[in-house]
Amino acid sequence: MMRDRPATPDDTPAIHKLVSACDPDSSLDSIAADLARPAIVLARDTVVVHDDGELVAWAWVHMGRRAQVNVHPDYRGRGIGTRLLAWAEARSLELGSSRLGQNVPDSRTDAAKLLRANGYEPKATAWLLEIAMEREPEVPALDGITVRSFRDGDGLAAYQMMEKAFNEWQQRPHEYGEWAQQTIERETFVPELSPLAFAGERLVGAVLSLDVFAQGYVERVAVDREFRNRGIARGLLLEAFRGFYRQGRRACRLWTHSDTGALSLYERVGMSVVRSSTHFSKPLQHDHRG
Ligand SMILES: CC(C)(COP(=O)(O)OP(=O)(O)OC[C@H]1O[C@@H](n2cnc3c(N)ncnc32)[C@H](O)[C@@H]1OP(=O)(O)O)[C@@H](O)C(=O)NCCC(=O)NCCS
Repeated sequence: MMRDRPATPDDTPAIHKLVSACDPDSSLDSIAADLARPAIVLARDTVVVHDDGELVAWAWVHMGRRAQVNVHPDYRGRGIGTRLLAWAEARSLELGSSRLGQNVPDSRTDAAKLLRANGYEPKATAWLLEIAMEREPEVPALDGITVRSFRDGDGLAAYQMMEKAFNEWQQRPHEYGEWAQQTIERETFVPELSPLAFAGERLVGAVLSLDVFAQGYVERVAVDREFRNRGIARGLLLEAFRGFYRQGRRACRLWTHSDTGALSLYERVGMSVVRSSTHFSKPLQHDHRG
């Protein structure tokens, strides 16, 4: 017998197990971070579906703008995805949103088909990139720039510089609390593998790394606009890759997407695309009759 209920933090390991069956890049830590986002009300923004005590599907809506729906491979083709999609749209409308988006791995042609059939269109591409490190990466010196690892007390300056850079393309600005919860306050954040670039006292570039996979993982990259195109991002990435190499990792990964324009930078650093996913979105129709 199938039952729906909202998620609780205790469901995190079961949700991770389910999502892992759909997406090999899922991590327990990122699911925990998503469930703990400041804007999430678990009772209203999440649904978990159980069949005889086994978690077989779930859906999550963030601020009415973005949804995630996962159905276990053994339970596909029974209309659960369609039902959860309708739930996500209803929740988004309730939150006053006018558009709802969802990322789908490009390998999941069935999910893409379902979204298209429901009025969603592809809007952006995200790529997972990886660098294989057979030997220790060489880190170039940066003229007039000093580089050191992230330390306690760097959070606010890093937030201000990175958030300003991301605001060049991101849909909405983030408060410090939400930014920190997604980056430096994560249990998996590794300050010693997160290099910062300074021009004098001024923080002008940052790479933030996480310890989540067998490979090294870079969560964020940003360089102050005034200091672009001088190789600072490249230098910081290579510094982080070398740090991971010295800890015994032989590969390092990161995600980027088509709105950032950063793909060629990562390819020139020696990374190549492992897989891609597409962001689909749809305008939501508000019923004005009532
Ligand atoms: C993406 C971003 C981090 C790049 O920072 P950057 O320091 O300008 O990057 P680099 O200087 O290392 O490389 C940028 C380009 O300059 C070129 N470059 C590198 N060294 C150079 C040098 N000494 N002189 C001239 N050009 C140089 C690189 O080849 C690269 O060209 P490409 O894009 O054609 O490959 C920066 O634009 C940014 O913060 N953007 C907003 C936030 C964002 O989108 N972050 C990425 C999220 S995934």
